[in-house]
Amino acid sequence: MQTLDIIRRRCGNAPVTLGLVLGSGLGHLTDAVAGVAIDYADLPGFPQAGVSGHRPRLVVGELEGVRVAVFGGRAHYYETGDPAAMRGPLEALRGLGADTLLLTNAAGSFRTDLPPGELMLLADHLNFSGRNPLIGEPSEARFVNMTEAYDRPLRAELARAAAAEGIRLEEGVYAWYSGPSFETPAEIRALRTLGADAVGMSTVPEVILARFLGLRVAAISVITNMAAGLSDEAISHEHTKAMAPLGAAKLERLLRRFLAASAR
Ligand code: HPA
Repeated sequence: MQTLDIIRRRCGNAPVTLGLVLGSGLGHLTDAVAGVAIDYADLPGFPQAGVSGHRPRLVVGELEGVRVAVFGGRAHYYETGDPAAMRGPLEALRGLGADTLLLTNAAGSFRTDLPPGELMLLADHLNFSGRNPLIGEPSEARFVNMTEAYDRPLRAELARAAAAEGIRLEEGVYAWYSGPSFETPAEIRALRTLGADAVGMSTVPEVILARFLGLRVAAISVITNMAAGLSDEAISHEHTKAMAPLGAAKLERLLRRFLAASAR
């Protein structure tokens, strides 16, 4: 059976408005949605591998009056070497009727005014990996304009929701580094010089795919650590997962306020 048929049969035919992809340590937000959950394992075209701290299931249902599709986990390029690993889920999202995608991730910060626990709204990105999920895509649509990849009106709505909740939401540039090893301090110095404010191992290929599919995109980083060489704290995946809840509570408040405002 086709993926969309499976989702519709289990979750109903009502169109979805928005998709939400949850990053490392943020997967529990799937619990916030009143809806039906489907394991990725039951969905053809969805990534089957998993990283701890993610919850590989799709939940379709209501959150603050908006019908959403929440992706409890993502496939990272470093898991299989496939930068298009999230194409299946994003195509399904489009097929369900969504026009908007909100991505979240955990990231290491370069800025002392963005310490662990802060949120950063992506204004732009640096594709430091050199990989592109559209390599091999035959259609002319592959020549995606990335000038305004992070939708300005959407960013403004998120900024308003943050202000209403009293949450600081700085804008910044996110650099995608392939992982799975963390960066060296020299790489962080280089990325900083190039204009990045934070670094992580995800999101950028999904933004490219989402723009290709015609989705409006916004993305928020939960800062879990200072990037390599910028603090004495040891960087690890365990540390990322342990620190994510610091920002996750704020992120949930922000998302709820944003959705409630857009439901009106
Ligand atoms: N580097 C890359 N990815 C990350 C980091 C980091 O410092 N923190 C959380 N995800």
